[in-house]
Amino acid sequence: MTHSLSRSCPSGTDLRPFGTVITAAVPGTSLGDIAIDGLLETALSAKVVVLRGYELLGIEELESYCAAAGEILRWDFGAVLDLDVRDDPQNYLFDSGDVPFHWDGAFAAHVPSFFLFQCVTGSPAGAGGETVFCDSVTVYDEAPEELRELWRRTTVTYRTDKLAHYGGLLTSPLLGTHPATGETVIRYAEPLDPARYLNPLFLTVEGVSPEDASYVMEDLAIRLHDPKYCYTHHWDSGDIMIVENHGLLHGRNRFTGSTRRRLQRIQII
Ligand SMILES: [Fe+2]
Repeated sequence: MTHSLSRSCPSGTDLRPFGTVITAAVPGTSLGDIAIDGLLETALSAKVVVLRGYELLGIEELESYCAAAGEILRWDFGAVLDLDVRDDPQNYLFDSGDVPFHWDGAFAAHVPSFFLFQCVTGSPAGAGGETVFCDSVTVYDEAPEELRELWRRTTVTYRTDKLAHYGGLLTSPLLGTHPATGETVIRYAEPLDPARYLNPLFLTVEGVSPEDASYVMEDLAIRLHDPKYCYTHHWDSGDIMIVENHGLLHGRNRFTGSTRRRLQRIQII
């Protein structure tokens, strides 16, 4: 594996409505052949970078590759999370249902700037399980000013039991500032109804009237899912993806067919 920091990231082809896909020019090229700094720089501007045709890294290689760019977020399972559908899940991340929008690291000591997925086993066409990314910067930019004014006053308290690697109580303003670009971002995790989800997530909206709180939540449930703000990724085996976490929200469509899909995820602070 080479870490040539002087080598820039190859250029890619645009995805819609945002993101870029880079295909390996030479078969057998490894993720480790792309300079991590250049890759993260591209991810910061494109928001999502998909790499195709690159060989995946082993767990230890992946950790050292990402650690060259910044501190790795560590959990009780370690740095690399296996995302798969389990026989006896305690958390909705590991069942076959959908995963509502959220941002990674909300309950962690540090919110990661980027996360990287490697797809060990992809999904057959039509099996669902796509990952969906919402560009919250553009959602904010295109929202009417009276709504943005309401958002500015809105604070959300989230509560969930720690049944997987995260949990607890978190109070967060609905709007934040992107630490790298200075743009306004929406930080919102959608509620998880206990009737539908293992490990539910309860929200208390404060700073606005109860009527406005209901309006904010009902509006976000529609606005954030507008396809013009969302990139939906169907996973093929061998896909690698680098995601900018501060500006995007993400979630997963439910599986409608095979649940063999397996991803590995690592987060860079
Ligand atoms: Fe996530």
